[in-house]
Amino acid sequence: MSNVLFELRRIDFAYDDTRPVLRGLDFTLRRGERVALTGPNGCGKSTLLHIMTGLLKPSSGTLVAFGRTRREEKDFHEVRRRTGLLFQDVDDQLFCPTVIEDVAFGPLNLGLDRHAAVRRARAVLGTLGLDDFEDRITFRLSEGEKRLVALAGVLAMEPEVILLDEPMAGLDETAARRVEEIILTLPQTLVIIAHDTDFLARLTRRTLRLHAGRLREAPPDPFPSHASPADAPGGVQSIRTSQERSKPCTKP
Ligand SMILES: Nc1ncnc2c1ncn2[C@@H]1O[C@H](COP(=O)(O)OP(=O)(O)O)[C@@H](O)[C@H]1O
Ligand SMILES: [Mg+2]
Repeated sequence: MSNVLFELRRIDFAYDDTRPVLRGLDFTLRRGERVALTGPNGCGKSTLLHIMTGLLKPSSGTLVAFGRTRREEKDFHEVRRRTGLLFQDVDDQLFCPTVIEDVAFGPLNLGLDRHAAVRRARAVLGTLGLDDFEDRITFRLSEGEKRLVALAGVLAMEPEVILLDEPMAGLDETAARRVEEIILTLPQTLVIIAHDTDFLARLTRRTLRLHAGRLREAPPDPFPSHASPADAPGGVQSIRTSQERSKPCTKP
């Protein structure tokens, strides 16, 4: 089996005709890699993660994910089961009334029975220090609390690849430390967008900078602070599309 999970070639994308965001972008993501994706505000980092998961479609170029060329919406269903995306805007991620419903939604959607889905959701909430959050109302949580719950939702689905779009935004010091520890132990292939270079240096070993619509490889850190964890098979994952969001949240 090829160890290339994503292969993007000559990707062009623009939200409108006047201003291209991605221009002939190439990106190869291999199994087990932990990649930092950097670049100034508005350069297209979030857009790239949305293209990788089919939430946006490029105007040209090719995207191969998990060994298959993906073009149409239906091609991306499998990609989204196997790739977890933590959205930059947490309000795009959370939509169930209570925390436990939200975190258990993904596993339920993957076909786990209620008991197993809730058990998995509780375990992930516990790891993130959110044991008491089960019955909290999601839309009343603070931004940092929402981000932790959103991360719990992604982890509960045990995806093979995890794309984290500014995972530390809004977190206090304790939560940030906890999230960093968790990210460090994750066996999955990771792409992390963040602005804190020290944080990225601790968590990743490859840095890509998005500039003028393309990615540039940044020189490797001569003093890596850790070794990459061994690869391990993940389960399946689903990013909630607008279609899935319209499904009712049934109380687990
Ligand atoms: N839905 C949208 N419609 C129009 N323009 C958008 C939309 N989303 C993002 N943009 C623009 O596209 C560019 C890239 O955005 P984004 O990928 O969010 O950048 P980054 O994540 O690197 O900060 C920015 O100039 C942003 O304003
Ligand atoms: Mg962004």
